[in-house]
Formats: sequence, C-alpha cells, structure tokens
Amino acid sequence: MAFSSGERMKEARSLQNVRLGTYYVVQMPEPDDFEFWRERARALVQCDVPPDRIAWVEPGGNGDLFSHGERRAPVPPADARPVRANRRFVNLARNAILHSEPERFALLYRLLWRLQGTPRIMEDKADPDVRRLEELDKAVRRDSHKMHAFVRFRLVEPQEGEEPGEEHYVAWFEPDHHILRANAGFFMRRFANMRWSILTPQGSLHWDTETMREGPPAQRGDAPGGDPMEELWRSYYASIFNPARLKIGAMLKEMPRKYWKNMPEAALIPELVAGAQRRESAMVEAGSLEFEERPETLPAIDKAIHACRKCPIGLLDNTAVMGEGPDNAALMIVGEQPGDQEDLSGRPFVGPAGQLLDVHLERAGIDRRAAYVTNAVKHFKYVQRGKRRLHQSPGAKEIDTCRWWVESERAIVQPKLVLAMGASAARGMLGKTVSISRVRGAPIALDDGSELWVTAHPSYLLRLEGPAREEQARLFDADLAAVKERLAELAEAP
Ligand code: URA
Repeated sequence: MAFSSGERMKEARSLQNVRLGTYYVVQMPEPDDFEFWRERARALVQCDVPPDRIAWVEPGGNGDLFSHGERRAPVPPADARPVRANRRFVNLARNAILHSEPERFALLYRLLWRLQGTPRIMEDKADPDVRRLEELDKAVRRDSHKMHAFVRFRLVEPQEGEEPGEEHYVAWFEPDHHILRANAGFFMRRFANMRWSILTPQGSLHWDTETMREGPPAQRGDAPGGDPMEELWRSYYASIFNPARLKIGAMLKEMPRKYWKNMPEAALIPELVAGAQRRESAMVEAGSLEFEERPETLPAIDKAIHACRKCPIGLLDNTAVMGEGPDNAALMIVGEQPGDQEDLSGRPFVGPAGQLLDVHLERAGIDRRAAYVTNAVKHFKYVQRGKRRLHQSPGAKEIDTCRWWVESERAIVQPKLVLAMGASAARGMLGKTVSISRVRGAPIALDDGSELWVTAHPSYLLRLEGPAREEQARLFDADLAAVKERLAELAEAP
C-alpha cells in the first residue's frame, strides 16, 4: 500500500511508541458498537499507536492470544491534536462496523490512521482500503434491505403474563451481518401498534407498543410457523403479483431462496411463475379496508398511519409522513404524497417541491408555519432504479384509501380553507377526480362549511421550462394570492 508523505511523517512520529513495544488489545463489548470503537480509536490515534500495534478482538473472540497486550485505553497527552475524520468516512464506518467480517475494526482503524496524514483518501476510489470499506457498507445495506422486505410476522398464542386477546407476532430472520439493533427503529416505527418479537441467531428484539427490549439469541424452532395471517399474506401477495413484470433472475437475486422458508407467500411462487393471472386484492374483497373509529388527536393519527397497511404502498421500504403545523390552523395545505426526501426526513414538503412551495408562499405573504401542511397519501410510492427511488403517482384506489387519514386530520384541525395542490390532493379531498384548470381560482364548498381551493402541484412547475414554467408560476401565484385574500376575509367573518 502506498503511503503519502503526510503518512510517512505520522509513521515516524509513531516510532517512539513502537520502540516502546506497547501492544494494545481492544476487546469489543458488542459486535456493532460503533461508539466504543470510535472512542478507543480516537485515543489510540492521539497516542500515535500505529495499526499494526493493535489487536481488535470480537466479543467472545480469543483475546488471550494477546496476553502480553495492554488492555487499558491509552491516555492521550493534553496537547494531542484533534483526530480528523470526514463525514463520508464516519458514515461508511458506522455502517460497515455491522459487517460480520472480523477484520472490520482493524480496517476502520487503518483508514482512520491514514486519514490523519491524507485527509482526501476517501476520494481515492482505487485505494484498496477505501474500496473494501465501501464493499462492507454495501453488503450491510443490502442485508438491512432484505430484512425490511422479508421479515414476516406470525401470530402466536398469548404468552405468560399476557392477557388473552393481546395479539403477539413473532418473526424469525437470519441476517448475514450484525444489523438487528441498527434496524430496531425501522420495525418499531413500521409496526408501532403491534406487539412483536424478531428472533435471530444473534439476538432478539421485543416491542410491546411502548418499549423495546433486547433478548438473547434464538433458534428457528423458537418461532412459530403457520397461522391464519399466512393465508392473508398469500392472497395479498397473489393479488399484487403481476406476471407480466416477472423476471425470474432478478427475483431470485432480490429474494434469495434462503428467505423463502420464512415467507408464507413464497409457497405461491411456483404457481405464480407458471402464469397465474393477476387477481383482485383478496384484502379488498375481504372488506379489510374498513377502518375503525377515527383517531381523536394528531399524535394518534401519526401513530396509526405508521402502522397502516391498507394499501400496498405501505409495504414498500418507506415511513409514513404525518402532516405538520398548528392543530387549529386556518389554512390546511394538501400535497400528493411524500417524496424521497420527505420519506427520509419524516416531514412533508422539505424536498425540491417543498422549497419551491416556500418561495411562492412567501411571495404571496402566506406564513407556512401558521398553516397545517400535509399530504393526500401518507407513504412514498416509488420504483427502485439502481440506487434511486423514482416517484410514482398513487392510483385512485390508493388515494381513496388514504382519504381516511387526511379527512381525520381535517376533522381535528378544522381549517377554514383547504388548499389542494395537484390532482391527487384534489381527489383526496373530494373523493373524485377533477380537472385543475376547470376548478382552480374559485372555492368549492366542503361538507363542514369550509372551503376547498385547488391549484397545481409545485412539482408540476418543476417539470416545466421556459415560458411554460413562467406561465404556470404566474397562475400558481395568482391562486395563492386569492387564497391569502380569502383567508383574510374568513378571519374577519363572525
Ligand atoms: N410532494 C408532495 O406532494 N408532498 C410532499 O410532502 C413532498 C412532495
């Protein structure tokens, strides 16, 4: 491996330590403990301990091999220089440490050490250490993706201490890497209202709708197999399966056979591959789209939408995005659905469309912070293209299903005026499709006496260029100005 002049200087500085012959042994307390690794690595760098003077030992690993080694963390001198590590390194390292490769701790340290002399090393795509770090990161992300997609919960009998009727779901999963803890938040948000356990050979997670507990490793036999939910999964999967799109090679790559045994719907695959026709959703036919009582608070809606699986969008790798703003706002602004950035941040209209919306709202003198901003559909619908998630418009059925939530939000906020941006938002408010050019610029009465105003969606403007964009921006501004004026009138109305 080629070292730069900065790295050579660092090597020379560290000679003193080498001469002293101190050999450090770092026993990791957990295989995924990035913070512990980071703290130790910082102290070691500040004490000029080169990579080949450290043995990083996995939890349960044989640290006795290094009985002559120093186990205490070295104490950096008071004038030690701060450790350099750029954001890219830290982000990759935080993920790569979850890999099952025993050498990962040493690799991370070697890179951190080299970063001190060559801060731009992470930009060198040909560097073997950087390449290896990227490989580990990619493998871990892939493993997490598989876990999100292929964990299947099964209903179990009430356990000791549980009331009959308190349903408990258990899933078995075999990750390739130490990803269980890192993914706890994902499953907690997605299945917030369910009591569930995820069992793996590395450990287990238990969620009781309020607290998360960690438990010991489990075996496959600890998880149940077969229950009525499986039938539902099977019919659901069959209903969304589109034989015209089937690519067997791609399917096997995405859904390795290893996971099939945990997935009730996988039993259908041979039949589906043989050419089964697309079927109507058994869930819809079974009437499972009926909702229960409307939640009475915005936090209750927030919790419920995270658990909502009434349409297939909620089964993608995404998180529900709740509306935000005062719960008594006079103006409610409704968009279509969260985009990629909204899904990642959990907030509506923070991406490019949101930024354009902010510009126009400001121009119209409408204070976004005083408005309640939300979406007709709560989950991000997309198709994966390589690393990118490309927006897909929700279908009429999906908008109609999600209407329950946006209507529940409206029932609580009780805005005087609702501004629906785009055709999906208008459908979400009216339950039918309208032509924007026909209805914009004038109020539509809603059942509770409030008013609906319809305008274009800001992302429509983003797709246009030149004079067409200018024209649409002008119309959008005019709609917002009319809304502002009407809000002022409504504020004065008795
Ligand atoms: N587009 C929308 O309709 N809503 C968002 O939250 C972001 C983009």
